Amino acid sequence: MEEQKYSNELDANFWNLRWETGRIGWDIGYASPPITEYMQQYADKSASILIPGCGNAYEAEFLVQNGFTNITLIDIAEEAVRRLKDKFKTTPQVTVLCGDFFEHQGSYDLIIEQTFFCAQVLQRRTEYVQKVHSLLKPNGKLVGVLFGVDFGPQGPPFGGDIHEYQQLFKPYFELKKLEPCFNSIKPREGAELFIEFIKK
Ligand SMILES: C[S@@+](CC[C@H](N)C(=O)[O-])C[C@H]1O[C@@H](n2cnc3c(N)ncnc32)[C@H](O)[C@@H]1O
Repeated sequence: MEEQKYSNELDANFWNLRWETGRIGWDIGYASPPITEYMQQYADKSASILIPGCGNAYEAEFLVQNGFTNITLIDIAEEAVRRLKDKFKTTPQVTVLCGDFFEHQGSYDLIIEQTFFCAQVLQRRTEYVQKVHSLLKPNGKLVGVLFGVDFGPQGPPFGGDIHEYQQLFKPYFELKKLEPCFNSIKPREGAELFIEFIKK
């Protein structure tokens, strides 16, 4: 019944319940290869990086191991954040915030996208794009993966395609890369698009 109650809202209660009951099927258990490969060639280790809807934030562990020093994580689910605060309690390079990305204020060089966009209802997509844009410094980047397939209306996840994403992001970003991902994990092969968008 509780699931029923929250199924249309995708609010903090919905996500927290998913975390508390262990229904986190999106969690791949390690940092996403398209993101780690990209970050391996990212020179500025002091770049301010935000990972919204970070979940278990394996990417943050990877970033710390690779010398990055200024990483902010935000997730709306208290249970996820409780685990993150424990995991990163002796890692000053990582700031963990519990809150709504859409309310977050800050200024970043880079925002990393990994199954957060697809967790939002379709009606929030423009708001997502505008919020990412507002959180980035001049020439800041949104980098990561988007699903490039249609999952139907019963998400999350909610999918999409290249054409839709072009329309959505182009007014706000230079779309440096929006292309089929060549290094997705096996279960997501052919379903992901790699993105590198630069704030206009
Ligand atoms: C599909 S999961 C992805 C988690 C992680 N990025 C991964 O790939 O494993 C979506 C995450 O976004 C969080 N979330 C959903 N809406 C949010 C919001 N408005 N602000 C911050 N976090 C949110 C959820 O709690 C959940 O942990």
